[in-house]
Amino acid sequence: MCGITGYIGYRDAYPIVINGLKRLEYRGYDSAGIMLYDGETMHLSKTKGKVCDLEEITNTNEKRKKGKIGIGHTRWATHGVPNDVNSHPHFSQSGNLAIVHNGIIENYDTLKKELIARGYSFKSDTDTEVLVNLIDEVKKNEGCKLGKAVQLALTQVIGAYAIAVFDKTKPNEIIVARLGSPIAIGVGKDFTEFFIASDASPFIEYTKEVIYLDEHELAIIKLDKGVKVRKINDDSLVDAKIEELQMNLEQIEKGGYDHFMLKEIHEQPKAITDTYRGRILADEGIIKMAGVDNNLEKFLTANRIIIVGCGTSWHAGLVGEYLFEHLARIPVEVEYASEFRYRDPIITPKDVVIAISQSGETADTLAAIKLAKSKGAFVFGVCNVVGSSIARETHAGAYTHAGPEIGVASTKAFTTQITVLSLIALKLGSEKGTYAKANFQNYLRRMELIPSKVEELLKIDNQIKEIAHIYKDAYNCLYLGRGFNFPVALEGALKLKEISYIHAEGYPAAEMKHGPIALIDENMPVFVIAINKGHYEKIVSNIQEIKARSGKIIAIVTQGDVEVKRIADHIIEIPETEEALSPLLTTIPLQLLSYYIAVMLNKNVDQPRNLAKAVTVE
Ligand code: M6R
Repeated sequence: MCGITGYIGYRDAYPIVINGLKRLEYRGYDSAGIMLYDGETMHLSKTKGKVCDLEEITNTNEKRKKGKIGIGHTRWATHGVPNDVNSHPHFSQSGNLAIVHNGIIENYDTLKKELIARGYSFKSDTDTEVLVNLIDEVKKNEGCKLGKAVQLALTQVIGAYAIAVFDKTKPNEIIVARLGSPIAIGVGKDFTEFFIASDASPFIEYTKEVIYLDEHELAIIKLDKGVKVRKINDDSLVDAKIEELQMNLEQIEKGGYDHFMLKEIHEQPKAITDTYRGRILADEGIIKMAGVDNNLEKFLTANRIIIVGCGTSWHAGLVGEYLFEHLARIPVEVEYASEFRYRDPIITPKDVVIAISQSGETADTLAAIKLAKSKGAFVFGVCNVVGSSIARETHAGAYTHAGPEIGVASTKAFTTQITVLSLIALKLGSEKGTYAKANFQNYLRRMELIPSKVEELLKIDNQIKEIAHIYKDAYNCLYLGRGFNFPVALEGALKLKEISYIHAEGYPAAEMKHGPIALIDENMPVFVIAINKGHYEKIVSNIQEIKARSGKIIAIVTQGDVEVKRIADHIIEIPETEEALSPLLTTIPLQLLSYYIAVMLNKNVDQPRNLAKAVTVE
């Protein structure tokens, strides 16, 4: 995790680097730092805390803001606790080099010992300070230029990195490199300026031209000369492609909402529409998805589909299991990427692996993909971030088109991932004839109605606030659902935990009697998804069981429900829809509930403690 930014050009670097860090704070926010080079001196400011704390320091002295070259960092600690000293940038012992780093150097201890034996001493506990000194040592020993020294040093490194390195003795260039962590280079007009960042959001108001470094690549960014990209391992030159950015500034700002999370919850009608736009031709009964169309045989002849992901994306994968089995009659296994990659799983070339990831950078998911590919499976990605590592690493895929998701708690990523999975499952169901043609068109039309139903649901804000107010002081909460809505129960619990720090568990409702029912008393709020489809009667019985033990029931029911209304303490009504589409609706009130509870508890909704948006470490 961590976010890195940098600038070299004709403008003042400070506002570009500091504002860039603010946009990257979703990647980590336990400390922040910046180095500005004013033509003579490298001015270093760094601190434990957020970018706004860093600004307080830089504001004390204008010198700290001077320079046309700068690099910055916002940290999510791995090696060394979050404190001022461990914050980046780090300088080499000679005082010539400065570095910012996102990733982990796994063999840092061995390298550190070797450097100590050669007379180096270290101020911080970080692996990054080891790396910058290693680069300096290689440069000194080989008598080479900075680019070569970085390259040679990186061949000694085991681990993951996205780095930006500056040398004050050669101040017209910045070297960047990547392995396992993303890095984007913004190219200014006529190569007069360059921007560096973990994603393109820090520089979208300056340039739309971007180069995304691939794995094992290093770029020498030189003023007036441009960007030269090389492979780290074999030194070969890479013909770096300049891509056009699709993002705009408005998409990454809060747009009048108090938090990104609330904005993103409210963006769901549009995000879901954007996901199926151009893919559904309801009247003709056609779903067009290039990634699936071009590999249809692989999907249709697959022995099984294995879905991998983490966190919310894993929950979307669980909904996918119900969808594929129900609509396309293909056996599905859903795996935590972190377990799958280390379990020595049985994967064959007849398996299709679907990897789901909002960021497209999750290290465990990426590793699971590489493993599946090495066993000959066909790997299909469902990602939101265009050009992300997972989007590149997979054989084919489908973007969710949700737009940037900045709040750490995933919301629109979840609903758009489910939308993509629905489309694929439905398409395969229709191709295989496991889902009747007549139902197929009906389903598509119902899917097209989902955005307006979400819109309608978003209007129940006040009712949700009242419920949030009643249960905000709970210590524990249970979330129950069955069938398609069991994963929604898991997702509801995760949302509450991660932003309000209230302990919550999601369960299939019928499992309650095998253990969790022991927890139920008058202090236990139980959120139950009890729509009028699937196993309604069964879930009504589960609700009775909770009631009999004095648990507090907050039920999500279909509009017009009578039975649950009689028993539950609170009901939240959702519009009627197909059972398979219902997770797209039932999840909305749960997102709002966790949001309002966290706000009422005064928590940092968009940047919850200990978390980061893109988990690029194992
Ligand atoms: O970017 P990804 O979808 O791969 O991220 C996976 C998880 O880290 C992510 O879904 C996480 O669980 C969310 N913060 C949950 O809201």
